[in-house]
Amino acid sequence: MSTNTKKLLVAGNWKMNNSLDEAVSLIQNINSTIDSNPDVLQKADFLICPSYVHLAPVAQIVDGGSVTLGAQDCSFDDNGAHTGDVSVQMLKDLGCEMVIVGHSERRHNCGEGSDVVAQKAMKAHKDGLIAIICVGETLEQRESGNAFSVVLEQLEVSIPKSATVENMVIAYEPVWAIGTGKVASSEDVKVMHETIAHYLKEKLDMGGAIRILYGGSVKPENANDLSCIEHVDGFLIGGASLKADSFVGIAQNI
Ligand code: PGA
Repeated sequence: MSTNTKKLLVAGNWKMNNSLDEAVSLIQNINSTIDSNPDVLQKADFLICPSYVHLAPVAQIVDGGSVTLGAQDCSFDDNGAHTGDVSVQMLKDLGCEMVIVGHSERRHNCGEGSDVVAQKAMKAHKDGLIAIICVGETLEQRESGNAFSVVLEQLEVSIPKSATVENMVIAYEPVWAIGTGKVASSEDVKVMHETIAHYLKEKLDMGGAIRILYGGSVKPENANDLSCIEHVDGFLIGGASLKADSFVGIAQNI
């Protein structure tokens, strides 16, 4: 999947959800929902990121279809003594094309800082995966007026020198909007996406070509309004990606 197109990217992050049977039937349902509504492919590219242990069986069903496979995280190293970690090459072997790095749940639950995120993104780039680099402020940081400085610092440290318009997507996900049902206001999303786009253009000379996703309680009901905001080039979706109707419905409603 190329990143330098402005077709929206509708990316599902299944997180630690689904039994094996549920994961298989979810991708089957997503495929059949897209097949019955082929016009959605004019509006969006679809990506799903199942749990590591479901990648292989889901890959067999994704194969040859219109949904791209991705992973929720990767190691910063090629191989070796990293118990529990999975390398980019292993993900590629299973058919992944993209990988999420720096999701706030990993930043906060696993103590991953932006320096580690940059190492993971660099490894993804080196081995040929597109890295979706996540950034976003907590409620406390927003309320204390630091949302912009936090996000800009995360971008500054998390984006490795290996980043190009071809191998990077940015996802802005305000932590307080993830899984809470609270969506950032259109104005908040607009200003933050503008700020990120400006940073990419001025600092990295990558303006306009990099997709900037919004994430945080996106669902079919709010997808259209969000998609109309300038510099919103798609969505990173948790809860609503766990049902074929709502996941594909996000693209249908745009
Ligand atoms: P949500 O999660 O859609 O359930 O808010 C988004 C995410 O964590 O990427």
